[in-house]
Amino acid sequence: MEDASISSAYTQPPAGARLADNPNWIYLMREFDALYRYGSAGGSSAIRSHRKRVRDRLSATMAKNPEFLSRGCETKPVTAHLPRALDLGERGAMQGMARALREIKDELTWEYGYDKLPKSLVAKYAYCEVMGPRGPVQSDQLILGFVLFAPNTTYPQHSHQEIEESYISVSGAWSENNAAVYAPGSLILNRSGDEHRITTGDRDPCLLAYAWTGPTARLEEPSMKMSSPKRKKTQ
Ligand SMILES: [Fe+2]
Repeated sequence: MEDASISSAYTQPPAGARLADNPNWIYLMREFDALYRYGSAGGSSAIRSHRKRVRDRLSATMAKNPEFLSRGCETKPVTAHLPRALDLGERGAMQGMARALREIKDELTWEYGYDKLPKSLVAKYAYCEVMGPRGPVQSDQLILGFVLFAPNTTYPQHSHQEIEESYISVSGAWSENNAAVYAPGSLILNRSGDEHRITTGDRDPCLLAYAWTGPTARLEEPSMKMSSPKRKKTQ
């Protein structure tokens, strides 16, 4: 017979209104901090200063014990690939992040972010924010999140105005602008206006952690747009 007092001891507590009430989210933020604090900038001064900007903004936000705005679980078709992405991530260089993410996977709000999403991406792409102006961990200075791609996906060319973006693979291989193949742990920096197009490996999903820095107004209203194939530079 089930002992109610024992089973209730294992029930997850309801999400609190502050980050300090949500230990699994604190540990996820610490994984981001470790990612941007340790490791190499590969000799690039632009990447070094981006990494510093991300961790300074993250530390400043954490120090305030920010609001926790629970946004509710939302899935997209591509999230059927998340268990495999986490499984592979837990075997590699990014295992700390993959494990921390597994603990909150049922609280993530996956979305598309585009008014007009190319049909080819509907079943192959989605992203979730874990920190930003809309929460769940509230910050006006920094967006942190994850983007998930199904195997064999092409994410069309786009750019971000006034936003500096870095991607770090948690799981899976990806290429940007046909320039190289990146493995879990590799970081790519896209500065404001840099055009980028992503492709992913044939067999496994690709899960990227990302960070966006920029002016608060832009982080609140990033207006994501694919670049027109005719006009390579967007507004
Ligand atoms: Fe991007």
